[in-house]
Amino acid sequence: MSDATAGEYLWEGERVARWLAQAHGLDRQLTPVSDLLFAAAALGSGERVLDVGCGHGPTTRRAASEVGPYGRITGLDVSSDMIAAAEEIEVSSQAATIDWVHADVTGWEAPYAHDSVISRFGVMFFADPVAAFSSLAAATVPGGRLCMAVWGRREASDLFEVPYQAAAATLDELGLRFEEPPADGGPYSLSDRDASTGLLEAAGWSDVGWSPHEVALPVGGGVSPEEAGAISLDFGPARLITPEAPSVRQQVVDAITDAYRGHLNSDGHVVLGGQVVVITARRA
Ligand SMILES: C[S@@+](CC[C@H](N)C(=O)[O-])C[C@H]1O[C@@H](n2cnc3c(N)ncnc32)[C@H](O)[C@@H]1O
Repeated sequence: MSDATAGEYLWEGERVARWLAQAHGLDRQLTPVSDLLFAAAALGSGERVLDVGCGHGPTTRRAASEVGPYGRITGLDVSSDMIAAAEEIEVSSQAATIDWVHADVTGWEAPYAHDSVISRFGVMFFADPVAAFSSLAAATVPGGRLCMAVWGRREASDLFEVPYQAAAATLDELGLRFEEPPADGGPYSLSDRDASTGLLEAAGWSDVGWSPHEVALPVGGGVSPEEAGAISLDFGPARLITPEAPSVRQQVVDAITDAYRGHLNSDGHVVLGGQVVVITARRA
């Protein structure tokens, strides 16, 4: 990954503000991913669960409901703004207590050992993945479980590829050069089975399981092509290659909106496929 591209994946400032501004729609868009994650995690009543890279906490609160009042949950994120947003949202009185932690997981020392670690797309951005997954192993009881949802390679998901190809074609037509972002960096950094298995084993995890799924994702939580187009340059590979110039951005957005019109459900909402891999492991 180039330095410029790596900077795009830092979870701070404006990037976090953009995520939080869309949190409601993103939660609905990613509910099918949560369903896969929680089915695989099979959390039991009373468990102590760590949700890593929890963001504003949608999966943390769901874990708290699943384990019930005798469980305990840690929601950990490197972004203070994400944790502040998480703390504002009410949790059911029937749910486990949640400890919200603002920290980089790498080097974080847990105050107690967790029975399981879960994550929805919060584990692909570590600067030193072996160190981060070693910290997670140290935060888990021997035999404890790790269960995380990650993206497959970029081109395996129309969610990324449809806007990316529309943006790339527009820039080509305008004669503007761009560097193709890596299809296995940033959000896709755990998309290679052998590499991911090797790094988890090096970090103290065993019995690594790999389960790819094709899911249908309602863009923006269920919106029209125009609304989906309007948010299409907030995240993803199309954003990375599109220059700031407003006239160029508008042409790219128009092209993406047009491409979205070919992917509507019966409600007229944009729905795109995503390849999600559920990776599971056990603390050695
Ligand atoms: C794509 S967001 C996912 C947020 C949330 N899990 C969700 O599904 O809504 C990735 C999250 O991982 C967090 N993150 C990235 N690197 C981290 C690290 N080293 N330690 C803790 N959290 C991290 C980011 O701050 C961000 O909130």
